[in-house]
Amino acid sequence: MTDTKTAKLSINDRDFDLPVYSPTAGPDVIDITKLYGQAGVFTHDPGFTSTSSCVSQITFIDGDKGELLHRGYPIDQLAKDSNYLEVCYLLLYGELPTATEMADFETRVTRHTMIHEQMHNFFRGFRRDAHPMATMVGVVGAMSAFYHDSTDINDPWQREVASIRMIAKMPTIAAMAYKYSIGQPFVYPRNDLDYATNFLRMCFAVPAEEYVPDPVLSRAMDRIFTLHADHEQNASTSTVRLAGSSGANPFACIAAGIACLWGPAHGGANQACLEMLREIGTVDRIPEYIARAKDKNDPFRLMGFGHRVYKNFDPRAKVMKESADEVLDLLGVENNPTLQVAKELEKIALEDSYFADKKLYPNVDFYSGIILDAMGFPTSMFTPIFAVSRTVGWIAQWKEMLNDPAAKIGRPRQLYTGPTKRDYVNIAKR
Ligand code: SDX
Repeated sequence: MTDTKTAKLSINDRDFDLPVYSPTAGPDVIDITKLYGQAGVFTHDPGFTSTSSCVSQITFIDGDKGELLHRGYPIDQLAKDSNYLEVCYLLLYGELPTATEMADFETRVTRHTMIHEQMHNFFRGFRRDAHPMATMVGVVGAMSAFYHDSTDINDPWQREVASIRMIAKMPTIAAMAYKYSIGQPFVYPRNDLDYATNFLRMCFAVPAEEYVPDPVLSRAMDRIFTLHADHEQNASTSTVRLAGSSGANPFACIAAGIACLWGPAHGGANQACLEMLREIGTVDRIPEYIARAKDKNDPFRLMGFGHRVYKNFDPRAKVMKESADEVLDLLGVENNPTLQVAKELEKIALEDSYFADKKLYPNVDFYSGIILDAMGFPTSMFTPIFAVSRTVGWIAQWKEMLNDPAAKIGRPRQLYTGPTKRDYVNIAKR
């Protein structure tokens, strides 16, 4: 990066010139790296609403245009013409693969889909009613206890093997977490199935009979994976980068990302959104919930609505809405009451000045739960599916960070408002 411009800061009767860098897309950034050393002050940005945390070339979001690019390719084109594993290759290596490169990548992923047989015992230590996200955090973190040959982050080959292992094994782990929660036997992956079909089969097949998903369902599952693959420096990706900045092994970093994604303000919103739509139940109750969402004294928010970056439609929500219609038509549930409530809620909210003024639109989580519910997944599996998909984004961003010569351990400072120095008082005198 070259600083072509400078920003002037005047503070405490002193002037400072700060370098300004121009990106290939998006806003300029002011480099404050040396600010504390020169001016003795910190900047303050608790939710990182105006802070660039890293240099990246993977994903670009234009929140005003509602645009999402992966290595420059628009998400709607990738969702329509590509597939999840090809998007994985693009995110990891920066370019769309040739047919030979794609075949090699698919073979490498396919051959890593099984997990160490002894890890099956690890699942059995959980209660059956544990949330699958709790199981996934535990099992993924435990992978560093089973795959010692791919935990050295300083070895490029081990980083590559760990990356492939994570992408390959996440669907198997998520499906096992689901099977364990419903008391059914684990279903092993099969090498003759594509990524999405393999996942659906591991979730819904039983030893008593085979399960062959309709190609429309496999395509919809693959598209859901594609739509959730990466999203710039969101909370869980920033968590993975921060964990990785200390030199933690990749499995521990991904486990940290899963834990962060679980929150209802982030990846947990798809589960919270479907539960909200079910609670609303019928179209006539929508005004009551719209009023609650607008009431400052009511903590209720419309789940699946709003976004830190998108101040226009989330482009993923548009594709998801089309996919919802397709899947529900196929399953003959096009009159699904939850979908009717969702569509009417979206319509009413977007006509309401509160949401328009605050630029609150449906996000990726608004329709995804309706599709997953129609496919037969319980709401508790919605965020695990998000985690399966986002693993490639976390891994790509983690690798990019490790390859950045300027990368250092992340260690923010603070605005301290606690007690100033005071002497200890013995308990007899308090
Ligand atoms: C994801 O970062 C990413 O990229 C995330 C993600 C990804 O792919 O990784 O896109 C995935 O996490 C999508 C978001 C899923 N979360 C939800 O759907 C939960 C509901 N949404 C909100 O909690 C909220 O919109 C956030 C958390 C998504 C964004 O919050 P911000 O950017 O911190 O915005 P804010 O809380 O400051 O809200 C701004 C205003 C506030 O009103 P005022 O204080 O200005 O009067 O908008 C209001 C908020 O009260 N508001 C909402 C609202 N979201 C924001 N009011 C009602 N319903 C909502 N959903």
